[in-house]
Amino acid sequence: MTEPAHLAAVRTSYDTVAADYVRLVVPPEGMDPVSRAMLAAFAELVRESGCGEVADLGCGPGRVTAYLDGLGLSAFGVDVSGEMVALARRAYPELRFLHGSMAALDLPDGALGGILAWYSVHHTPAEQLPHLFAEFHRVLAPAGHLLLGGHAGEAQLLRPTQAYGHPVSYASHLIPAGQLVDLLERAGFTVTSRLEQPHPQKEARSYVCLLARA
Ligand SMILES: C[S@@+](CC[C@H](N)C(=O)[O-])C[C@H]1O[C@@H](n2cnc3c(N)ncnc32)[C@H](O)[C@@H]1O
Repeated sequence: MTEPAHLAAVRTSYDTVAADYVRLVVPPEGMDPVSRAMLAAFAELVRESGCGEVADLGCGPGRVTAYLDGLGLSAFGVDVSGEMVALARRAYPELRFLHGSMAALDLPDGALGGILAWYSVHHTPAEQLPHLFAEFHRVLAPAGHLLLGGHAGEAQLLRPTQAYGHPVSYASHLIPAGQLVDLLERAGFTVTSRLEQPHPQKEARSYVCLLARA
């Protein structure tokens, strides 16, 4: 099947920036305490549900996957960037990292106890989010949990030419947090918790964390 243009741009861009992404982006241990609390709450909910493995979708270099492993989850990562997957496998050889798109997961229905999508869904065009969230819902067990963390804001398309010190060709598709909630609910999720933190510099932007049940 032909790779959609937006995905090819994400793949080649993250292949290019992978090493500097690790150097420049703060690891989970250095994140703000509220974001870490959301990851901890997600881990506790999944452990309590007892329903199985957690996929970190758009796992990048695998640091958050490893953090979830440290919180007692059986976690593996999926990323479309081969370079990111290679870095993740090198850093965490005891964990499993798969190369592929989170929009077409090679997993049976109801296979997962949890899904983490941490700063990865904003690269999917907004009109494709219903399909993406339907795929998340398909692979999650009926008692499973989703944690979606990422950028939100006034609907807009951002086309940076540089990121992490390199030229990039991907786009970031911002939508308001409320619209993310609606899309998740339409895909069959029940959103149980919504945290929104203002962006420190950009008034129309925020960081959002949504916990949802399948
Ligand atoms: C900003 S990075 C975040 C990485 C990681 N979640 C973290 O917090 O360190 C976004 C990652 O999502 C991946 N990604 C974006 N869209 C994807 C898709 N449709 N399928 C798989 N990976 C995707 C990119 O390749 C990139 O590694």
